[in-house]
Amino acid sequence: MTTTAILSALAEEQQGLLERIQNPQLVRRAGRDFWRGTLHDQSVVLGLSRIGKVAAATTATTLIEAFAIDRILFTGVAGALDASVNVGDVVVATGFVQHDMDASPLFPRFEVPLYRRSIFACDRLLTDLLFDASRLTLTERRQRVAQAQVPAGPVTHKGLIASGDCFVSTAQSSSALKLAMRGAGLDPLAVEMEGAAVAQVCFDYGAPFAAVRTISDRSDEYAPADFQHFVTQVASHYALGIVDQFMRALAKK
Ligand code: ADE
Repeated sequence: MTTTAILSALAEEQQGLLERIQNPQLVRRAGRDFWRGTLHDQSVVLGLSRIGKVAAATTATTLIEAFAIDRILFTGVAGALDASVNVGDVVVATGFVQHDMDASPLFPRFEVPLYRRSIFACDRLLTDLLFDASRLTLTERRQRVAQAQVPAGPVTHKGLIASGDCFVSTAQSSSALKLAMRGAGLDPLAVEMEGAAVAQVCFDYGAPFAAVRTISDRSDEYAPADFQHFVTQVASHYALGIVDQFMRALAKK
């Protein structure tokens, strides 16, 4: 049986999954708690990345080295960067870029030195499954919301996500980020703090990787308050629904 690692950044995001897995077994590695178990009769390991690229890289490396997992799925929240992306929407990553990588003039800005690339791509098949799982989850939610007479519903996007070791919390910094990245031909939909690190570790090991982020804020002055509210009230439910649909679809493959 193959094993899927499900990584979340925060405990609130992991809680629902932890309640749902069967035969949970706690394993401590690298100062972290990992939970082995099954979900829809498939072997899973749940992990918490914590926040930031180094913490996420340690967690991903541990999952690969100590748990012999076959793929990594990351769920979490992100700030919107693109104007088409709204709070409550979901972004499924096609790839990740480190927006704080800058070894210029030795290497072009955003390029990861000695890898000859700025973007680490996600696994195509897993990404497509995740996109469908996300759309299905949002459609089911929308049907429930529509019954409550609320008009517009959230949307699932697919595209590039930028990661860096800072919480983007001013309109000025998110505009500057967008402008700089656009200058390098990069157009990220959202920003967060872990995905690119996990993508690079998975690239090094040849491990398939996919990631989904629910948009908690607009990466502006309201971001800290929106983030806190969203993580506890909304994101954990989204993550649970999407992972559930994803694991069901994976079981049929
Ligand atoms: N994760 C969620 N919102 C974020 C933001 N505004 N900046 C960085 N990471 C985030």
